[in-house]
Amino acid sequence: MDLRTRYLGLELRNPLVASSSPLTGAVESLLALEDAGAAAVVLPSLFEEQVEHDAFALDHAVGVGTGVNMEAHGGYFPALDDYNTGADEYLDLLIAAKRALSIPVIVSLNGTSDGGWIRYATALQDEGADAIELNVYHVAADPEASGAQVEDRYLHLVEHVRSAVDVPLAVKIGPFFSSPANMARRLAAAGADGIVLFNRFYQPDIDLETLDVRPDLVLSTPDELRLVLRWIAIMAGRVDADLAATTGVHDADGVVKLILAGADVAMSASALLRHGPGHLRTMLDGMTRWFTDRDYQSVDQARGSMSQASAPDASAFERANYLKTLVAYAPRG
Ligand SMILES: Cc1cc2nc3c(=O)[nH]c(=O)nc-3n(C[C@H](O)[C@H](O)[C@H](O)COP(=O)(O)O)c2cc1C
Repeated sequence: MDLRTRYLGLELRNPLVASSSPLTGAVESLLALEDAGAAAVVLPSLFEEQVEHDAFALDHAVGVGTGVNMEAHGGYFPALDDYNTGADEYLDLLIAAKRALSIPVIVSLNGTSDGGWIRYATALQDEGADAIELNVYHVAADPEASGAQVEDRYLHLVEHVRSAVDVPLAVKIGPFFSSPANMARRLAAAGADGIVLFNRFYQPDIDLETLDVRPDLVLSTPDELRLVLRWIAIMAGRVDADLAATTGVHDADGVVKLILAGADVAMSASALLRHGPGHLRTMLDGMTRWFTDRDYQSVDQARGSMSQASAPDASAFERANYLKTLVAYAPRG
């Protein structure tokens, strides 16, 4: 079974990538991920706020609170105390990762405005980053800003980073666009070599005891794969960029489904945090078994065979299936 995969022009040994998380923030766990079979790793993000204000608190910027440790109770979860500490440390991490690993190392830039932080893209390229993932973590909370204005902001950022570097560029986006596939096309036209679907926005909660807004981070569940699966299937073959799937990739079945839908790579974070880096090997072995049992010769042969463009029932990915699904609903128990 030939698992080799091309993503962002990089030759990968298989389609499983370790997504940005605390596990990709230290050389020891990066090596464990490589040993478990990861084809590439995405380092945690260098945040605009880290670069612009240096003294940076992750929980302030993205809402990672202490609840994260409770959520991962019993699982593999490195301390977050020194997660995403500063620009110099980030360059050091990249240098150390490049020295220690033989798989590609993708760096991640996370920001929303057209600031000086973008110049770090060049520094990261110079230190040997194999590709850059640009995470535009923008919560469109301004009622005065139209959808078109929000989209322009993304496109402008991509053009800006694209003009600064030659390394491959992926853009990680959320699902909240009126026309996600159109947006993906425009991002590709603006210079993105890959689209990473979907960013998972951390949802604030209200603590009814203290009446505080709690920015707890809850790890994903396998059910969350569905949203990504649909949009990978819809975009496969229709967007001039590679497609990476993130959110809800917890097991071999999920990886297989994403490849059939047309994903170039599947990325995982929550499942690896919960079960440890060795879980990647379990996913990889299960995926390989599924394909070999069905006589596939390569992952490429399977990729996209269940995309919307190729599926026997293309409407299954759209509205047409809605009524059928509602009618077929049977209460459990
Ligand atoms: C603790 C934690 C830290 C994360 N840090 C980053 C980050 O620095 N940059 C980023 O782009 N995504 C980050 N993510 C998001 C993951 O890379 C991933 O896209 C998301 O969790 C959905 O995938 P999953 O369902 O496999 O967890 C983080 C996720 C977790 C759980």
